[in-house]
Amino acid sequence: MAQRIYLDRKWRFNENFSEDMTTNPMDEYTLVNIPHTVKETPLSYFDESSYQMVSCYQKSIFPPTQWKNQVINLVFEGVAHYCEVYVNGELVKTHECGYTAFSTDVTKYLTLGEENLITVMVDSRESLDQPPFGYVIDYMTYGGIYRDVYFEVKGKAHFLDVVVTPSLLEKVSTSKRSAKQIQMMKVQGIIKTECYFPKKIYKLAADERVFIKQFLDDDLIISQPVGGLEDSEGGYLLNLTTAPSSVCLWDIESPRLYNVKTQLVLDDEVVDEENVAVGFRSSEFRKTGYYLNGRKIKLRGLNRHQSFPYVGYAMPESMQRMDAKILKDELALNAVRTSHYPQSQYFIDECDRIGLLVFTEIPGWQHIGGKNWQDIGVENTKEMIMQYRHHPSIILWGVRINESPDNDEFYTRTNQIAHELDPTRPTGGVRCIAKSNLLEDVYTYNDFVHSGDNKGCSKKSDITSDVEKPYLVSEYNGHMYPTKSFDDEEQRQEHAIRHANVLNGLAAESDIAGGFGWCMFDYNTHKDFGSGDRICYHGVMDMFRNPKLAASVYAAYSENETVLEVTSSFDIGEHPACNRGKSYIISNADSVKMYKNNELIKEYLPTDSSFENMKHGPILINDFVGDAIEKDGGYTRGQAKLIKEVLNEVTLKGFSPSPKLVMAAIRLILFHRMNPKNAVAIYNKFIGDWGGESREYKFEAIKDGEVAKTVTKTAVTKAHIEAKASHTLLTELHTYDVAAVRIKIVDQNNNQLYYFAQPISFEIEGPFEIIGPKVVSPMGGCTGVYIKSIGEDGDGKLTIKSDGLDEVTIGLAVECLTK
Ligand code: GAL
Repeated sequence: MAQRIYLDRKWRFNENFSEDMTTNPMDEYTLVNIPHTVKETPLSYFDESSYQMVSCYQKSIFPPTQWKNQVINLVFEGVAHYCEVYVNGELVKTHECGYTAFSTDVTKYLTLGEENLITVMVDSRESLDQPPFGYVIDYMTYGGIYRDVYFEVKGKAHFLDVVVTPSLLEKVSTSKRSAKQIQMMKVQGIIKTECYFPKKIYKLAADERVFIKQFLDDDLIISQPVGGLEDSEGGYLLNLTTAPSSVCLWDIESPRLYNVKTQLVLDDEVVDEENVAVGFRSSEFRKTGYYLNGRKIKLRGLNRHQSFPYVGYAMPESMQRMDAKILKDELALNAVRTSHYPQSQYFIDECDRIGLLVFTEIPGWQHIGGKNWQDIGVENTKEMIMQYRHHPSIILWGVRINESPDNDEFYTRTNQIAHELDPTRPTGGVRCIAKSNLLEDVYTYNDFVHSGDNKGCSKKSDITSDVEKPYLVSEYNGHMYPTKSFDDEEQRQEHAIRHANVLNGLAAESDIAGGFGWCMFDYNTHKDFGSGDRICYHGVMDMFRNPKLAASVYAAYSENETVLEVTSSFDIGEHPACNRGKSYIISNADSVKMYKNNELIKEYLPTDSSFENMKHGPILINDFVGDAIEKDGGYTRGQAKLIKEVLNEVTLKGFSPSPKLVMAAIRLILFHRMNPKNAVAIYNKFIGDWGGESREYKFEAIKDGEVAKTVTKTAVTKAHIEAKASHTLLTELHTYDVAAVRIKIVDQNNNQLYYFAQPISFEIEGPFEIIGPKVVSPMGGCTGVYIKSIGEDGDGKLTIKSDGLDEVTIGLAVECLTK
């Protein structure tokens, strides 16, 4: 039976490479595990030269003699960016893409029962003549063997490839059905399979010795002799089609996956087996929008890079999965774009598992190179589709270089190969030029029209060159309003509001399939971009995946979690001239009650939001007074009403004499005989919060008549550390595991202390290592740390300290399932 043997552990690594390293074990090296980055970097202020090198990875392996008569493939899931693979000094493979996998048959180069030397030259220089290189790039490209490496050992009779394509027998419609109903729906699904075999199979088939079996979960759906083989480019091809089976749908509401197991049976023994997780669903871009299982869905997504602080691309399975879960569970999104390259299979597997739709694309950024470069681009397209086409979550292939100019010849080739290899999915290709040539099925466009006080997005008809074809916004915001977690409140709030403005705009355009905001989290970038510290602060989260205020605009779409965020700390000194200005409630509750010092001021409803196309758009807080003036007793009803108007106007807009303010003041003086000298005292009493005992604003999110969440804002009296680990049991399967710990400094009411910058230190006990520095300064009142297992079982703990604050400990354990 075929087996997969992981080779992630114990590679010798050297930052230099020379030919003679391919034949002899290196004497100078560091021992590393995969995923590996050629250079760990600081959080900021470093440049791309640090990871640009030609380095050497080397591993001694001892293939057992039992592997005689087997075929041994060596598979690399991701090596950035160009590499040469040597086995015992012989060059066996070169690969020119940092973002797709490759495999090579090394059988004839290995000596069984002896030590063999695998050497990989890895070139991570940005001068390479391959995508995405050739001009500037707005993200660091890092280097290294950063995804899994393994052997696939198979008998001589084996599959070269098994392409499983599930489909629905009939059109479905899930419109007007609840999540539960979608989950319960049964439909008829069929599976088409293309099995590719090496030459050897021909003879065995002729002798009737080989059979094929296929199972849908546990049900046998195909059992037949291998016969009727066609000679094709990928090997000898056998086409299979199953009878219809009654299946559940794969949907974002109920991402039901089925395992399709395809077995090759030789003389009654299973000699090879391919398992693919598939989903039965219909997915369609139409002129009027996007339809999943016949139901129109507005795609609401963010762009994701695959980078992490310190280690760049080199993070294991759990961290890849974590990002998908954050997108779906914390940001309540239904889609993600893997900008600007194919990402880890683990990430996409998780999208399949949780029901997050994916727009993935070929590597590249604005620049199109020459003939060789374009040939590689076509090859990248082919690899992307062949390696990712079984994922039900993928709904669109990006086959243009992100934001590149038209190049009909090149893009005719990428479109053609995509359609040939996957007739079931449409192509798109991200552009920043309106009305550019459309060779794809979907016009995908980065619409940066929104700049704060204008429309959220452009009209489809103003952008696309063919209104009959579907249209999707692939990016918005981003560089239009970079925002740091440690920016002042007005900036952070405006960032959130701009995301809401675009979402609101997109919601109004029924013929736009949806949009992907730029972007999920901040990322390290080249000198031409970012804030000079090599960070692009475009994320709705920081690099550690700590949410900024803008994140809550997305989170408020959640059907499961109650979200309640108030965009202000209500500290007037945070604002120019002490004018508090606008503040918003962001919540998905039925209503939000606002109290001041326990007196109800106002109950806000979702309909109070001016973002009229959003179910739960931000709600402007427009009353800081309630009926406090009336209750005070010192004023007539008329006076109280006008004073309230004046005070709320002043709070929102400052003391600038707006016509409304002037009129109200005149009326108070003339008709209500109020003395202007008392104005300041009145302001201070009801609004100013200056010198008073204390002020407390409390917000209660009400769901189904109950208080589901409370936010309380008072003057800060105490800070403490809040730390949340992605998981505390780290599991070593074929390599190390990493847990992400997200850290916030919060006040006595658990409000983030955005300007807390005092150092925080990390101490680790047990079989772990800390990735990155052990002392950090939080930025924007938050930070993070990554804890890595080191290949031993055991317990331990992480202690997080900062002078004067209570320390926090997190218990951790490692379980090594294979060594
Ligand atoms: C786009 C580009 C992204 C990112 C973004 C920033 O033009 O596609 O990679 O740079 O701008 O807003």
